[in-house]
Amino acid sequence: MSTVQKIHTAVFPVAGLGTRFLPATKAAPKEMLPVVDKPLIQYAVEEAYAAGVRHMVFVTGRSKRAIEDHFDTAYELENELSTAHKDELLALVRSVQPADMVCSYVRQARSLGLGHAVLCAERLVGNEPFAVLLADDLMTGPPGGSGVLSQMVAAFEKMGRSMLAVQEVPADQVRRYGIVAGEPAGRNLIRLEKIVEKPAPEEAPSRMGVAGRYILTPRIFQEIRNQPTGVGGEIQLTDAISRLLAHEAVYAFQYEGKRYDCGSKEGFLEATVELALQHPQVGAHFRDYLRSLTL
Ligand code: G1P
Repeated sequence: MSTVQKIHTAVFPVAGLGTRFLPATKAAPKEMLPVVDKPLIQYAVEEAYAAGVRHMVFVTGRSKRAIEDHFDTAYELENELSTAHKDELLALVRSVQPADMVCSYVRQARSLGLGHAVLCAERLVGNEPFAVLLADDLMTGPPGGSGVLSQMVAAFEKMGRSMLAVQEVPADQVRRYGIVAGEPAGRNLIRLEKIVEKPAPEEAPSRMGVAGRYILTPRIFQEIRNQPTGVGGEIQLTDAISRLLAHEAVYAFQYEGKRYDCGSKEGFLEATVELALQHPQVGAHFRDYLRSLTL
């Protein structure tokens, strides 16, 4: 049996324009929108770090410099906090960038789709399995349990195959997702037979929708490179996964936890309310405040 391959690298495609949040995202990256007190991208990076990933690869674009700055040393700020003996705040600022975490950046010069964004990371990933996290999808594990990517890494270490996080979605929303179908293959796993990007409800093979967490084997790069454009004229990651099925088994993973679609205003507000309620500093006050509202 081959030895278990570890997931060292996570890819964060962050070049998208965030048009659904205009004008907030006119000059600021959508991934920097804060949910309570942390930007969306930090939630995803922390989820990857907790899963054992130490190399974070950001596929960026124009006007995304704030993301690079966020994961870099902030000399002036740190100096001022240090001089003012604001040690807790200093530790908080430094915790964004743990000493053993390495960040790499590559620019996606043109918006050619998610598959293309992942292909841009090929040289930084190398010939090994890697994770992809879409920061728009804020994912939380079950209370007190592991995060979604940690759950997937544990499953990957057993199976050694590509894994996609999936959840059941309402029939009228299948058009927003990659939709999978396949055979149950043990607890939480479905062996994929089919995957289609954003099908019409009458053409969807099931209601299992892909959430923004993937673990992929490096063969995916070859599949992306050789594929034509798909839905919306974009190079779709979903199409590459469909082609990968001809060569390797791929599993859908039914994670435990919750997904907030922070690419939409509704999902972003739901995440804000629920994470504020759980927040150690503001949670209790916020709960009282919500109770006081006449709705
Ligand atoms: C992307 C993927 C889609 C997936 C979704 C999850 O779509 O293409 O397969 O279900 O993320 O959020 P997007 O939301 O970027 O249009």
